[in-house]
Amino acid sequence: MTSIAQLIIGVTDLAAAFLFMYGLKRMSSPVTAPSGIFVAGIGMLVAILASFLYVFDAGASAKPHLVANAGLGVVALIVGGGVAWWAGKKVAMTAMPQMVAIYNGMGGGAAGAIAAVELFSARVPGAVQLVVTLLGALIGAISFSGSLIAWAKLQGVLNKPLRVKGQQIFNGLVMLTTLAVGGYIVFVADRGVTPLIPMPDLIWLFFGCALVFGILMTLPIGGADMPVVISIYNAFTGLAVGLEGFVLQNPALMIAGMVVGAAGLLLTLLMAKAMNRSISNILFTNFGTVVQRKQGDIKGSLKPVEAGDAGIFMRYASTVIIVPGYGLAVAQGQQKLYEFVKLLQGAGVSVKFAVHPVAGRMPGQMDVLLAEAGVPYDLIFQLDDINEEFANTDVALVIGANDVVNPAARTEKSSPIYGMPILNADKAKKVYVVKRGEGKGYAGIVNALFYGDNCDMVYGDAAAVLGKMIEAVRALGTKAAA
Ligand code: TAP
Repeated sequence: MTSIAQLIIGVTDLAAAFLFMYGLKRMSSPVTAPSGIFVAGIGMLVAILASFLYVFDAGASAKPHLVANAGLGVVALIVGGGVAWWAGKKVAMTAMPQMVAIYNGMGGGAAGAIAAVELFSARVPGAVQLVVTLLGALIGAISFSGSLIAWAKLQGVLNKPLRVKGQQIFNGLVMLTTLAVGGYIVFVADRGVTPLIPMPDLIWLFFGCALVFGILMTLPIGGADMPVVISIYNAFTGLAVGLEGFVLQNPALMIAGMVVGAAGLLLTLLMAKAMNRSISNILFTNFGTVVQRKQGDIKGSLKPVEAGDAGIFMRYASTVIIVPGYGLAVAQGQQKLYEFVKLLQGAGVSVKFAVHPVAGRMPGQMDVLLAEAGVPYDLIFQLDDINEEFANTDVALVIGANDVVNPAARTEKSSPIYGMPILNADKAKKVYVVKRGEGKGYAGIVNALFYGDNCDMVYGDAAAVLGKMIEAVRALGTKAAA
């Protein structure tokens, strides 16, 4: 029976790993992404169900607890699955980063919990396995507490970054203490000597220090950098899960962990590159503390126009490029935007969307938003593929975007976004910027584009402004394209 159970577990684990990777592959394009998520979800279901097969492969000491443990597993599945289902349905697009943060924290916590069970039961067989277990425990615990702080910042529970003098030295000391305790645990277990304090207390101390380090490391980082931090913790969680998979000799955990770890790492690098910042700059430098250009330094003025007038101007243009940003997601104006685009197309205007890699607050947020509204993928262009076209475009419609079109990134060495590639909206013949008022973008800096001679401001909530544009264009008798 045991060998049959092991065979089935091995085969299902392999199938789950295949489904994870195939799902991930399909997630690389917006066209195939929904089915990719579904396939990876099936993989997860297969892996979870396979874990119940361990009931048939349990050792003598575990046998008396089988029913109770399997029951607890089912209860955990119902509670966890139920909460996740409800939260997934309810969460607003703009609150996605928080949700990712909390789920990621749970992953790190789960890896840490697996390590804790192994460490407290003292069944880790050798020094190498012990080091791997402790490494997974360390990374998992940091990811758990750090992700919870990231969640609190994104949710607005913690509003200000906590920065004190000598903080990084103190954080370094906490990390050194954690490593020293871990090293001592390995030394004691390997040499069989009696520890200065009981082993369970050493393990508690190790976890305590790692959890505190995760908190301390995340507290000084500004809320604005949290999406990148979450992505780093995502990589950590994957690594921790992979390491614990090695300890448990569970291939599904190993593969899933490594895939998540690698994906998290690549995503972090991608985001950092798109923001033109290094990872160490994000983790250890206070974003936005450099000298910033003041409003008074900028030539020109803000020129407000009516939404209807802007809409009619675009109706008579030949080419329009739309730059969506965070504000569009806040306003949930994507449906109205596409309705407006179809009217322009109906009038013979060529319309394209230009998406910046870090527009919004999480990777791919604009792509998802536009896909949600049914915008065809062939109208959506990424930065490198469209940037040259702005110079030959009649109108750039910047809607709820700010930093991703801020020319300071090209010229202002003191600007926090200096060096970040931006969309060349300012090069279009005419620019309309839709935003509610004089609110700054995520980087908290003034945008000279808005003061340019070719730029007019259309003030208002993005959805409301689009409603007025639609009304004005419809009043001309324009019909929407099919
Ligand atoms: P932002 O620079 O944040 O600007 C958004 C603008 O939208 C604001 O100026 C705001 O002005 C306006 N707005 C807010 N609510 C609105 C509404 N209901 N209707 C109309 N306008 C509204 O956005 P962006 O250009 O998309 O840039 C994203 C920024 O986030 C970049 O700096 C990027 O580095 C950063 N970031 C992104 C990511 C990822 S992965 N996407 C990760 C970390 C950081 P008003 O208040 O005046 O309306």
